[in-house]
Amino acid sequence: MYIPRLIAFLISVIILETPAHAEFCIPHRCTFGEKCWPDEHSWQALNATVGGRLIRSFPSAAVCHQGPSYDAQACDIAEKNWDNSFWRTNQSGAYSALVWEMGKYGQCYLDDFHQPCDQGRVPYYSVDARSVEDIQFSVNFARDKDLYLVVKNTGHDHLGRSSGKGSFSIWTHHLKGIDWHDSFIPEGAAPETSGIPAVTIQPGEQWLDVYRAAAARNVIVVGGSARTVGAAGGYVLGGGHSPFAHYYGLAADNVLEMTIVSADGTHRTVNNNTDPDYFWALRGGGGNAWGVLTSVTYKTHHVPQSFIIGWTQINTTSNETFKKVAKQCLQLIPTITEAGFTGYANIEGGFSAIFVQPNGTLENFNKTFAPLEKLSNIPGVSAQMAAYPASWDMYLDTFLKDPNIATNIQDASRLLTADVLQNKTDELIELILESGDGAGFNWNPISNEIISDKSLVGQANNDERDNTAVHEIWKQAHGVFSISTDWNDNATAEEKHRKREVMVHLSNRLTDIVGEDGGTYVNEANPYEPNWQQVFWGDKYQRLLSIKKRVDPTNLLVCNRCVGTDIILEP
Ligand SMILES: Cc1cc2nc3c(=O)[nH]c(=O)nc-3n(C[C@H](O)[C@H](O)[C@H](O)COP(=O)(O)OP(=O)(O)OC[C@H]3O[C@@H](n4cnc5c(N)ncnc54)[C@H](O)[C@@H]3O)c2cc1C
Ligand SMILES: *[C@@H]1O[C@H](CO)[C@@H](O)[C@H](O)[C@H]1NC(C)=O
Ligand SMILES: *[C@@H]1O[C@H](CO)[C@@H](O)[C@H](O)[C@H]1NC(C)=O
Ligand SMILES: *[C@@H]1O[C@H](CO)[C@@H](O)[C@H](O)[C@H]1NC(C)=O
Ligand SMILES: *[C@@H]1O[C@H](CO)[C@@H](O)[C@H](O)[C@H]1NC(C)=O
Ligand SMILES: *[C@@H]1O[C@H](CO)[C@@H](O)[C@H](O)[C@H]1NC(C)=O
Ligand SMILES: *[C@@H]1O[C@H](CO)[C@@H](O)[C@H](O)[C@H]1NC(C)=O
Ligand SMILES: *[C@@H]1O[C@H](CO)[C@@H](O)[C@H](O)[C@H]1NC(C)=O
Ligand SMILES: *[C@@H]1O[C@H](CO)[C@@H](O)[C@H](O)[C@H]1NC(C)=O
Ligand SMILES: *[C@@H]1O[C@H](CO)[C@@H](O)[C@H](O)[C@H]1NC(C)=O
Repeated sequence: MYIPRLIAFLISVIILETPAHAEFCIPHRCTFGEKCWPDEHSWQALNATVGGRLIRSFPSAAVCHQGPSYDAQACDIAEKNWDNSFWRTNQSGAYSALVWEMGKYGQCYLDDFHQPCDQGRVPYYSVDARSVEDIQFSVNFARDKDLYLVVKNTGHDHLGRSSGKGSFSIWTHHLKGIDWHDSFIPEGAAPETSGIPAVTIQPGEQWLDVYRAAAARNVIVVGGSARTVGAAGGYVLGGGHSPFAHYYGLAADNVLEMTIVSADGTHRTVNNNTDPDYFWALRGGGGNAWGVLTSVTYKTHHVPQSFIIGWTQINTTSNETFKKVAKQCLQLIPTITEAGFTGYANIEGGFSAIFVQPNGTLENFNKTFAPLEKLSNIPGVSAQMAAYPASWDMYLDTFLKDPNIATNIQDASRLLTADVLQNKTDELIELILESGDGAGFNWNPISNEIISDKSLVGQANNDERDNTAVHEIWKQAHGVFSISTDWNDNATAEEKHRKREVMVHLSNRLTDIVGEDGGTYVNEANPYEPNWQQVFWGDKYQRLLSIKKRVDPTNLLVCNRCVGTDIILEP
């Protein structure tokens, strides 16, 4: 029973990865409480067009506070499910990235009955969209009334892009549907184009359900490792990494076609034939800057015949021993990824990691990890590692275990190249040691290198990467390195502010280490990243901005650190 506990621990660690009315869009976007906010009559007219599915949304603890939302029974359920991401993704006003229910505004948590529940950043009204038409009506309404519009899918977003103070939201959770294709041909393809196996997923689908449906057909879809993250929303719009990115590329690389309601209310099919620029932007351009996705069609792949799952646990007893262990481990990462392993690691006070290798062998695991085994010869260091053959079901049970993942986490991150891992190791270790104060660390190894033994890498396809908007550094990255901070729900405003500033400082330190050419994964980035355009997209930002101006000329779709949103949230 040791391994499952370790894994539960690791999964919890992975997750630690993670002015008045106006936030950033006044005077251009109208929010609740302002004179420009539509009157009740207009809202009820909208409600009628969307089949009565306009919801007055509240924070997840509203049922536990005195006032009209109080409900003893619902409060009891809230207390039992507080960090359960299934419970959270089920509600229009609840966020798995809990911190973004409030942001800097007010409080609405449990055990605080006598305080009023602040609305925080929870959208005032949400449309529970059940059809493309619901989305079109909502987008047109927001554009006509000049509203601050947000799109909420699962509410996992680390940058607060799926909530907004005084906003109106389109909630995509109930847009469910998974359609499998034996031979998919994108719209507008040349007549000689041959079809390939694919799947079309609606935005409300979450990864665990997609994986299960895929397994029943003996295929996999390149997806993430949290069961409740959306399979066709913010994840892929940011690029989407996966333990299978090593073999099959990022999620964005696997997209064949998307359908979207654009800012003008038109429902479009976007692919390499119909609008190559728009398609390029949707593959990594990030957040809800581009419209409201109504489906994503991904390539599918065969389930590998076998897997190796491996883990390491290396403990140290002092800063000195930690430095030795961390140096060996960080410097070995390029070798580990090149040998075909991906996974997740924690490098605080030691090195705990979990790995998967499709088609792997125990022999390869032993050979690759042998240098780490030797670390136990250092006094004060204990090291254990092992690997076992696994099935696809075991993989799912291991990597997608824990639903209790709602936190207040905020990150600072960079994609690390072999050069940084091997030549800037001491600087990275200093940063890890100094981060202190509740900061964790995680590393998701994703290699896109051309690997010498092709049989290990399957169909890794670097060419496709140039057809996506993700930062150029993804081509060389061996992992997303992130440091994170967390706080209790009842932390003071001062503590939260101080911790946010520490993370911005650490993010600047990371720029010093990786250089100006470095970058990060937009979906796991610091929400207050100072030089965000460069750090998220590098040289690709200018092209993204010109496409944004074409597809959303009135800049209806604004979000924190999204393409074209110039005024942004501050720590
Ligand atoms: C516990 C946890 C585990 C994670 N694991 C992984 C992982 O393994 N790999 C990985 O790559 N990332 C991972 N992430 C990061 C994840 O990719 C982001 O949080 C992502 O933004 C989630 O997208 P969502 O649609 O589920 O969430 P939301 O918060 O609802 O939306 C995120 C962003 O996408 C926009 N959006 C959502 N749906 C639509 C739509 N239909 N049309 C247009 N815009 C839309 C929102 O407006 C917002 O800007 C993880 C996050 C968490 C909290
Ligand atoms: C929208 O209409 C439905 C059905 O009439 C009603 O139940 C619901 O309360 C309305 N929504 C709002 C926000 O008033
Ligand atoms: C989510 O909502 C559905 C339908 O309302 C319900 O069947 C399900 O039990 C809910 N799940 C959780 C975890 O609350
Ligand atoms: C997109 O189309 C261009 C030419 O129209 C072609 O060169 C390119 O390979 C296509 N890319 C993909 C991913 O299909
Ligand atoms: C791998 O190492 C373990 C532990 O040392 C050993 O028991 C096992 O036989 C090795 N397997 C292979 C295939 O080398
Ligand atoms: C490392 O420390 C953890 C937590 O104290 C412990 O459970 C584990 O057995 C230790 N592992 C080794 C290899 O010493
Ligand atoms: C480390 O730096 C040296 C000297 O600049 C360089 O030759 C080497 O290629 C670098 N290592 C990696 C992995 O890039
Ligand atoms: C370890 O290093 C950190 C950062 O340099 C320092 O703050 C901390 O006090 C050190 N811990 C010990 C036990 O020396
Ligand atoms: C695993 O091996 C099978 C059979 O050799 C091969 O078809 C498949 O592409 C491999 N998968 C990966 C991910 O390497
Ligand atoms: C704040 O929350 C923590 C964790 O839930 C709890 O242990 C602590 O007692 C709370 N503090 C106050 C002042 O309520």
